[in-house]
Amino acid sequence: MASKNPLPAEETLDPQNWESLRALGHRMLDDMLDYLKTVRERPAWRHIPEQVKAQFNQPLPLDPQPPEEIYQEFLENVLPYPVGNIHPRFWGWVFGTGTALAAFAELLAASMNTNAGGLDHHSAVHVEKQVIDWFKQMLGFPASASGLLTSGCSAANLIGLAVARDIKAGFDVRRDGIPGASRKMMLYASQEIHSSVQKAVELLGLGSDALRYVPVNDDFQIDLQALKATITQDRQDGHLPFCVVGAAGTTNTGAIDDLNALADICQRENVWLHVDGAFGAWGVLAPGVRSQLAGMERADSLAFDLHKWMYMPYEIGCVLVRHEEEHRKAFSLTPAYLTHGEGGRGMTGGDLPWFCDYGFQLSRGFRALKAWMSLKEHGSRRYARLIQQNIDQVRYLAGLIDASPQLELSAPVTLNVVCFRYLEPGLDEGGLDALNKQILTELHEQGIAVPSGTIIRGKYVLRVAHTNHRSRRDDFDILVREVIRIGKELALAIEPA
Ligand SMILES: Cc1ncc(COP(=O)(O)O)c(C=O)c1O
Repeated sequence: MASKNPLPAEETLDPQNWESLRALGHRMLDDMLDYLKTVRERPAWRHIPEQVKAQFNQPLPLDPQPPEEIYQEFLENVLPYPVGNIHPRFWGWVFGTGTALAAFAELLAASMNTNAGGLDHHSAVHVEKQVIDWFKQMLGFPASASGLLTSGCSAANLIGLAVARDIKAGFDVRRDGIPGASRKMMLYASQEIHSSVQKAVELLGLGSDALRYVPVNDDFQIDLQALKATITQDRQDGHLPFCVVGAAGTTNTGAIDDLNALADICQRENVWLHVDGAFGAWGVLAPGVRSQLAGMERADSLAFDLHKWMYMPYEIGCVLVRHEEEHRKAFSLTPAYLTHGEGGRGMTGGDLPWFCDYGFQLSRGFRALKAWMSLKEHGSRRYARLIQQNIDQVRYLAGLIDASPQLELSAPVTLNVVCFRYLEPGLDEGGLDALNKQILTELHEQGIAVPSGTIIRGKYVLRVAHTNHRSRRDDFDILVREVIRIGKELALAIEPA
């Protein structure tokens, strides 16, 4: 019987015309391959013009716009103004470069739109377990360790430190919170440790005062005597030393702490060893530096990224925890609506744990796919060659700097970071700082190259952190040549004092 009030038509977000979206999709793939292929022909960075910025100040779209038009806006207003880290002369901060196949993997993962937080018997969890097993093997962790892919190393540090806090507290932190502590819980790291460690300490409710910044030696490694003395003093003061955070490659200079010595100290003191190996952990693949990372495999937890030195597109990091049950104890929480691991058949009848038992996220993307495809595409041997190549290239750069009277190295080059500055006779330290800052700005503004800047021993320096698979030796020739050219030009314009 026909209804008097017909039901409204139903909608979906699927394309109304699959064939036209298919054509657009093919165009996008072609365009992106061309974009990657021709990256060297574009400036390393350029400003986003004011009129383009204004395009991102528009009213909320209320009605549909054709995908072709949206893509055109992307081509005009988004694509031409990236931060630039896919460029062969981008070496600022610590940015990765990505690869073409891994970009396609993102499309595949997003099309499947899998939630890798849990559930059994679906492919994404097996892919993630597989890549974590490969990482354990590559980084010398035992097969029995647990692991979780994360958004990056900040999240990986947070998770590792949360496990350390809960396991070493001596009371139920999850129930009682930090007010349950009878002694102040203390952590130790070098003054060069990354800021994400302090952020994690703050988020964990320990307070930034709980993080003791230990001085470094001339090679920017944690001073072991100072570390031991600080731990002893804290015990005498009635505190609870519970964790040391070792650096496997500091952000400023790439320094690697003596990780075996840290592991010995932690064992003696019964404290947790967490290692931040954001990019440096991958130095183990390179025969030239592997021995400097000895001891990393003894850590209780290890945080690292894949979007820096393993060249995978953002975002992907990972945390490994030596004892799986400790990892799970810190995070597992199973309300009725997430019951799992009870055996039997179906989507919830598989093995414990789910990945949500190892971290704070329940819903999680299928990050593992790009890692799985990348590792298969290149193989660990090619990654090892690339990482060694990057190390050799920064040594080449250090050689160019050493051979240039206008330049000076500002810190030892141990891994993939080079800190250096331009010298101008007659300028005092303040003048040199200002000049080097200007040189950096000109390198960026002229689109030549993107190093970043930092302060080393109180002096402003240029800093190259190399995790770029596209760079060639002649890119470093260009950098050195241009730093000297710009330095000379700027110095000419400085009024004599
Ligand atoms: C040594 C170190 N640790 C941690 C981090 C934070 O990693 P992410 O940016 O992936 O969160 C970085 C970032 O550069 C780093 O260099």
